[in-house]
Amino acid sequence: MNIIRQSLVILGMIAAPAFAASQVSISIDAGKPGTVINKNVYGQFAEHLGTGVYEGMWVGPQSNIPNTRGWRNDVVGALKELHVPLVRWPGGCFADTYHWRDGIGQQDKRPSNVHANGSVDQINAVGTHEFFDLIEMLGAEAYVNGNVGTGSVQEMSDWVEYMTAEGGSPLARLRAQNGREKPFKVAYFGIGNELWGCGGNMKPDYYANLYSNYEHFLRAPEKSRPKMIASGGSGFDTAWTQVLSKELKDRTTGISVHQYTIPTGKWDVKGKDLGFKEGEWISTLANTLKMDQLIKDHVVVLDKNDPEKKIGLMIDEWGTWYDEVGAKSALFQQNSLRDALVAALNFHIFHEHAQRVPMATIAQMVNVLQAMILTDKEKMVLTPTYYTFQMYVPFQDARSLPLAIKDNTSYTLGGLTIPGVSASAARAKDGKLYLALVNTDPHKATDVAINVAGAKVTAATGKLLTSTMMDAHNTFQSPQAIKPATFSTRAASGKLSIKVPAKAVMVVALEE
Ligand code: AHR
Repeated sequence: MNIIRQSLVILGMIAAPAFAASQVSISIDAGKPGTVINKNVYGQFAEHLGTGVYEGMWVGPQSNIPNTRGWRNDVVGALKELHVPLVRWPGGCFADTYHWRDGIGQQDKRPSNVHANGSVDQINAVGTHEFFDLIEMLGAEAYVNGNVGTGSVQEMSDWVEYMTAEGGSPLARLRAQNGREKPFKVAYFGIGNELWGCGGNMKPDYYANLYSNYEHFLRAPEKSRPKMIASGGSGFDTAWTQVLSKELKDRTTGISVHQYTIPTGKWDVKGKDLGFKEGEWISTLANTLKMDQLIKDHVVVLDKNDPEKKIGLMIDEWGTWYDEVGAKSALFQQNSLRDALVAALNFHIFHEHAQRVPMATIAQMVNVLQAMILTDKEKMVLTPTYYTFQMYVPFQDARSLPLAIKDNTSYTLGGLTIPGVSASAARAKDGKLYLALVNTDPHKATDVAINVAGAKVTAATGKLLTSTMMDAHNTFQSPQAIKPATFSTRAASGKLSIKVPAKAVMVVALEE
């Protein structure tokens, strides 16, 4: 029995009766299963930016770093453990400068340089075929983002045809000549990115017309037609959602929104990744919790313009964004226990809005922003965010369950107050009942009494991620400084109570 588990069990035994009066209570209604949590809300984003693709994932077949056709074995192996359901590629802002023809054919004959995007030359070694090789190794779905900003309708139309055509088309023949007879499966296709900014400084009406024009010419076999995504606004600005959901009915399956969590809430001085004060712990969590209101604001607009709920809200860029101080490559940042809580709190919000949010891709997968994995040449570390994604795997395609929190604690500092406990429950595909818990308070553990209507729960077993430090993180020198511990507890006198340590994320299966 490891130390954390042992001490929790001991604490639970000693403290259970004393906590009865001030306990937080969670009631789960297992008899009223709700919407399925689309596994694609656990999607990830891999952009040609900094060392996100080159070095982070791709080292090339000739590298001394063990690889499979150029993709790092250590990174791919670690990502497989997350059951990554969906990967968005090649950008981001990069997508609107990317020309897909530069990335096909014999690798050594491809144009050597696209351009430096964030201090690293984004060469063309990873193109369409290599991306799908990664996707197929991961067993994930593909979300390919097309170029509106510097591309053309013809170029985008050709790319979709190249990827999806069954044969009998010149582009399908070209694909076969390049080594791939059968079509690639493109689950989602994004028509541009951040058109209000890096994608072309457009207004929503102008983009709505452009989108219709592009979408009209994107030809794919009916049965394998990608779900087309319109690139929407940023954060709380619902103007793009308003225009796009009105103008693009039946032409889009989703409107994207990007929302980053910045500790200070200000882009000029965002806040540090490590060594931050408690004020930036609470402000980061408070800012990330705004995702809930943001989704609600966009859903009000969608419900008005799309009452049939055909259009999804795709949160295809989210996560923390800190100041870059001497970063080894663009947007490289460390990732601490605080990021683990950010991820978990957002998952709970996505679960809550499962009806309208069928997809979300965290920014980003490796070495960029809130990454799962950090690399330094041959070295690799798994981040606290990685572990959160791993702990929440059972929630992929699980059926959400109604959950009510009574007598919740609150955590206050300075002028900010946030709920102490956040929770989410679901019936997973393995038939088990899972409960996820977050304690946002960095100082106080909280006892949570669990009550499941329609079931008698006897025990809880699972994983717990916590530390004594708010910025606990893994480094290349100390890669195991923070990782999940096993947790288990049993009901006493027919009642199940879980002690959630301070600043912790926990996912348990409830034994019925
Ligand atoms: O994720 C980094 C960048 O942030 C993306 O390229 C862009 O879409 C967003 O502004």
